[in-house]
Amino acid sequence: MEKLNILVLEDDKLAQKVMSAHLAGHNIDLAGDLKTALKKIESVKYDIGFFDLMLGPDDDYSGLKAIAAAAARGVFCVVVSSSDSDETIDRAYALGANDFYAKGNEESNVADILRKFIQNRKAAGAKDIFSSAFITCDPETKAAASEALKYAPTELPILILGPSGTGKTSLAKILHEHSGREGAFVSINCSAYTEDLLEAEMFGHKKGAFTGAHETRKGRLLEAHKGTLFLDEIGTMSLGMQMKLLKAIEERSFYPLGSEKPEHSEFRIISATLEDPQTLIAQGKMRFDLFQRVHGYTINLKPLSRRACDIAPLVQHFTSGRRRLSFTPEARAYMETYSWTGNVRELKKFVDLVSSGSEGRVDINTVAKHLKGREAAQPASAGDGGLYAYAMANGLEAALDKVSGEIITRNLRENEGKKTKTMADLKISTRLLYSTLKKLGIEPEGEKK
Ligand SMILES: Nc1ncnc2c1ncn2[C@@H]1O[C@H](COP(=O)(O)OP(=O)(O)OP(=O)(O)O)[C@@H](O)[C@H]1O
Ligand SMILES: [Mg+2]
Repeated sequence: MEKLNILVLEDDKLAQKVMSAHLAGHNIDLAGDLKTALKKIESVKYDIGFFDLMLGPDDDYSGLKAIAAAAARGVFCVVVSSSDSDETIDRAYALGANDFYAKGNEESNVADILRKFIQNRKAAGAKDIFSSAFITCDPETKAAASEALKYAPTELPILILGPSGTGKTSLAKILHEHSGREGAFVSINCSAYTEDLLEAEMFGHKKGAFTGAHETRKGRLLEAHKGTLFLDEIGTMSLGMQMKLLKAIEERSFYPLGSEKPEHSEFRIISATLEDPQTLIAQGKMRFDLFQRVHGYTINLKPLSRRACDIAPLVQHFTSGRRRLSFTPEARAYMETYSWTGNVRELKKFVDLVSSGSEGRVDINTVAKHLKGREAAQPASAGDGGLYAYAMANGLEAALDKVSGEIITRNLRENEGKKTKTMADLKISTRLLYSTLKKLGIEPEGEKK
């Protein structure tokens, strides 16, 4: 849990104790009078201040003065006072208070205030994520990830879809970091185990529960208590295991193998799969009830080739703090039309390779040398083995989108951006042209005649 610096201005000793109990786990400073409070506000950088207003029987609401001082230093100011006339409330807000609560319901109010504060701070920090942790400038990806981040501090399960190497695991970790959950991020790759081993790994086991169980082991579900359980490749789980997992999710408890005693765990689920869940359900490989339990908010990460605008910022990100590279325009164009079947992971490997090479200015020959052999050297085109591999990895629809995208962008380039000419040349409708450009993350500008 994130530790906050909190000031409590309160003259009543009993009320001080009550507040301290509700704020346990954070760094708390107590002040019983205005002078002490002002001194502390001067010297410590507080995140939140809780202010009583009447500090003593004959006091003239001196707590208000502390609010002004704290607000000026960027402290989130919350009044907790029994003096809650309209006039006092108005004055407090005018002086910079962010919230006003009447005394008496501290237990739930304080918890709400802290949760809201942490959530807002994370949301403000989320703007930086796209330039520091989850690099993307693709509008669609950004919008979907921002939406997912809004749900990070909730209990809602999140399902992340996307081909291999598109950042599913990275995003899951970021969502956990923004969840405010005090427990750990516990990841389990469902495809890496046989059914029996997966069950033991998830639920844990007692010593001697099965051959090879030399000691008692805690399962991943328990390790994820108050944290996040990341179910990677959930689409590969057997139906039997899916049923057991569903029961554990619904009951929040489960039996470790060989144990009579149920374990309780409050985990939040984030899952990921390369496959389309609807297809898995239709094929009878995924239980619909489990799907309903895990798909609360679903985010789809597009293949890198469909967000080519992310290539340059990702290269910058992967080389930051290291040797910087520059690419010739031809090299850049090559990278932007390359199919990147391994997505961001492939790009990262490529950057590592190129960085260790001798040239800092990278030309098309160097790029082609490193990317050749991974698939057909040139961007996939109809009848080409690279395109076939691409379809096998990403599905036929994505491959067809890719072909349309390449033909349309090439023709637009040749026609210097004249869309009417492109529609005539390729005999396509406005709708197809615009939907293709949208999929490529290209904002259709006004027509160039
Ligand atoms: N948007 C991004 N910004 C920065 N790094 C990224 C981004 N997306 C992916 N990466 C990096 O690319 C690599 C692959 O990402 P990740 O492992 O998250 O993909 P994945 O979708 O989980 O892959 P798989 O399907 O194989 O599990 C990692 O090194 C990760 O840090
Ligand atoms: Mg992964």
